[in-house]
Amino acid sequence: TDSPIVTEALGNRPEDIARAAELLRAGHLVAFPTETVYGLGADARNGAAVAAIYASKGRPSFNPLIAHVGDVAAARALVVWNDCAEAMAEAFWPGPLTLVLPLGAGHGVSPLVTAGLATLALRVPAKPCARDLLAAVGGPVAAPSANPSGRISPTTAAHVRAGLHGRIAAILDDGPCAVGVESTILGLQGPAPVLLRPGGLAVEEIEAVLGQPVAERDAADPLSAPGQLLSHYAPNASVRLNATRFEAGELSLGFGPGAFDLNLSETGDLAEAAANLFGHLHRLDARDAPIAVAPVPEVGLGVAINDRLRRAAAPR
Ligand code: TXA
Ligand code: MG
Repeated sequence: TDSPIVTEALGNRPEDIARAAELLRAGHLVAFPTETVYGLGADARNGAAVAAIYASKGRPSFNPLIAHVGDVAAARALVVWNDCAEAMAEAFWPGPLTLVLPLGAGHGVSPLVTAGLATLALRVPAKPCARDLLAAVGGPVAAPSANPSGRISPTTAAHVRAGLHGRIAAILDDGPCAVGVESTILGLQGPAPVLLRPGGLAVEEIEAVLGQPVAERDAADPLSAPGQLLSHYAPNASVRLNATRFEAGELSLGFGPGAFDLNLSETGDLAEAAANLFGHLHRLDARDAPIAVAPVPEVGLGVAINDRLRRAAAPR
């Protein structure tokens, strides 16, 4: 992955998806859209291919990857399944939810995917293009978000190209991602469900199905979120949060009615704000000036939006 390669531009036609599947099966890296963000895929059973994900992103090797599968049966075959997983999969798969479960016998997944952990993060994405690709590959596809490590996540093929062009075999373009923030990660390996990362499925929805509250992760336990670095999603410029006034020279990112350089949602709609978040950060970043962000309520998808904004604003 050191010498540049030509990154193929693929679309969403059947022959493009077949080509993407062929590249993945041959051990190459292919970026593809999901409903949350674009992922950088590799055959999860091919150690060399998974190693190339870490190399192309500059990702620390202690940060494990999510395995993407086409359906619940394929997920069950890789882990020790349980009743809670069944209830979550029934309610929310395919969709923006990742489940962490103990690795099962004979799973075949490269230890580089789990970064040596005894658990595996699994998800069945909903975007038809991703489902078609996974069906064509016929095995688990490891995929982190398709951005250089630490930078803003990609919600369009153009974002992927800007960050990883020349380092990956192909990019499958099927338009912008509807959800716009990464999946919610739920740890189901212990006695009670734990929220490992807020994301595109609001925790309130999970709790409504479980009939019990979901515990926050223990921030002191490194295994509860092995790769969640404080500084992440970082634009080049500085980011200031909860801004109610804006200084001269600052670019303003709004939420709700008002005059801003860009607005996450003029009507204060959190789903719209999540879908706009990374695209707006990419656009402001290109203008190379300090960014100030209006307050976003800490409920529903606002929890994931604020989590990403805090990491974007964190000291580097
Ligand atoms: O929406 C998403 O989840 C996107 C799309 C492409 O599916 N993927 C994504 O991957 O956000 P990534 O690599 O950017 O984030 C995966 C997160 C990391 O924070 C990692 O530490 C955590 O999942 N993770 C992976 N395996 C884990 C495990 N076994 N236990 C706990 N956390 C795990
Ligand atoms: Mg990521």
